[in-house]
Amino acid sequence: MNHAAISWWQEGILYQIYPRSFQDSNGDGIGDLPGIIDRMLYLRDLGVDAIWLSPVFPSPMADFGYDISNYQGVDPIFGTLDDFDALVAAAHASNLKVILDLVPNHTSDQHPWFIESRSSRDNPKRDWYLWREPRADGAAPNNWMSEFGGSAWKYDAGTKQYYYHAFLAQQPDLNWRKPAVRQAIYDVMRFWFRKGVDGFRVDVLWHLIKDAEFRDNPPNPNFRPGRPPHEALLPLYSTDRPEILDVVTEMRRVVDEFSDRVLIGEIYLPVDRLVAYYGKDLTGAHLPFNFALLSTPWNARAIAKLIEDYESALPAAAWPNWVLGNHDRPRVASRVGQAQARVAAMLLLTLRGTPTLYYCDEIGMQQVAISSDQVRDPFEKNVPGIGVGRDGCRTPMQWDAGVHGGFTTGEPWLPLANNYVRENVANLSADTRSILNLYRALIELRKATPELMAGSYAPVAATGDLLAYRREYEGNALLIVLNLGADPILIGSDTMAFPGEILLSTNLDRSGETVSGGLDLRGDEGLIMRLR
Ligand code: GLC
Repeated sequence: MNHAAISWWQEGILYQIYPRSFQDSNGDGIGDLPGIIDRMLYLRDLGVDAIWLSPVFPSPMADFGYDISNYQGVDPIFGTLDDFDALVAAAHASNLKVILDLVPNHTSDQHPWFIESRSSRDNPKRDWYLWREPRADGAAPNNWMSEFGGSAWKYDAGTKQYYYHAFLAQQPDLNWRKPAVRQAIYDVMRFWFRKGVDGFRVDVLWHLIKDAEFRDNPPNPNFRPGRPPHEALLPLYSTDRPEILDVVTEMRRVVDEFSDRVLIGEIYLPVDRLVAYYGKDLTGAHLPFNFALLSTPWNARAIAKLIEDYESALPAAAWPNWVLGNHDRPRVASRVGQAQARVAAMLLLTLRGTPTLYYCDEIGMQQVAISSDQVRDPFEKNVPGIGVGRDGCRTPMQWDAGVHGGFTTGEPWLPLANNYVRENVANLSADTRSILNLYRALIELRKATPELMAGSYAPVAATGDLLAYRREYEGNALLIVLNLGADPILIGSDTMAFPGEILLSTNLDRSGETVSGGLDLRGDEGLIMRLR
């Protein structure tokens, strides 16, 4: 592989910002675009290459911006279009790309398109959304369920039909079989590309096309009580329909009208279906997000297997990617524990393919406890008490030990973790062995090391808590060994190819050590080694 020929989104590191919680600049307790601009230096020093912003468009905020009422503006909570232009300019001046969230599956019910659509059955925009007759007894047209609880159909008394909403009733689904809808969204993409945006992360990409006949979804035989109610059905007819690939290919063509832009898809599907979104001959998404690490049991054998499954499912020349956290899932440090969060960081930044970091994970942030009167997330409000709430992973960034962690001078919209006085960017920067400095070291090493950025991946046989693999580039090899358990592991030279030299330990205390006969891996330790 020619390293020089790979694109920024292949060799780069993506960083997701949840704008409400990154940095507030005006004291209203909610993060905003000027706040992000103020923190550009931090992002540059961290060493990431692109920032992806969760939605900043005008929105009634029923789903915190994933309910958009105007695709071509900025919500006043976050700033203005001028602020947005300034953000792109500041990011680009710092060599950072800017990726926006495109939410094409649904609009807000306050979007003018939907207001028109629901105004009468013969409105020209009526079929921009999914309207169906009630069943004979007045019931919803079929059994499809909303991901946020209850039926996915809402009856409109004015026009005596139901409309479909995969999420909240305030998020009606657009009709992606309608060419005018597609063109309208493609024009939205062009609008932002002309503003200099470098790519899109497409929200729920696998949801866009629904069964033309709206057949009932079958029951899920593996449904377990305590899981969200919509999982009682398999979303066979409401998601991942074959026709979706035409849409993805069309979107990619829009992306390719501009130079050097990226198309990323949010897709929660088993790996064999996920990789279909690369499209025929890679004409689909550049990066269908790989969320396998978000839900895997944290043990070496399970992870070795999922890497293997993913690597072997990838179409030829498709570029892999890995995600460790996002605004919908519990924080990695809470999923795997504080000690393993360091191992997870090394895993993410040494696997083959583009890594995506989620803000605050680099400071080892835990899920923040949210009391019932603090709940903001509509998912938790609709389906309370079973642990689906997403507020705990969306809390404000902890910058320093000052009031509200330096996030805001006002009342933060969600509480900060009560450990913020200790666990914050300023403190952790000063602590040479902190997780933040581990992230920085890993990022720096990755960027300086073609084996990590662009090399091949090969698993190394291991047992128990040990996960091991090699990355090779132009005849040079690295060995990565990760201890997923708390007990030390002694690795003999009979099982791994030594000698070598340690480049980095997750404890940040072994760089330069040479390894010949055997290797002592401490509990919860990961090492990157250059093999001689
Ligand atoms: C995606 C977003 C999530 C949102 C949902 C509906 O899964 O990541 O935050 O609630 O889509 O737009």
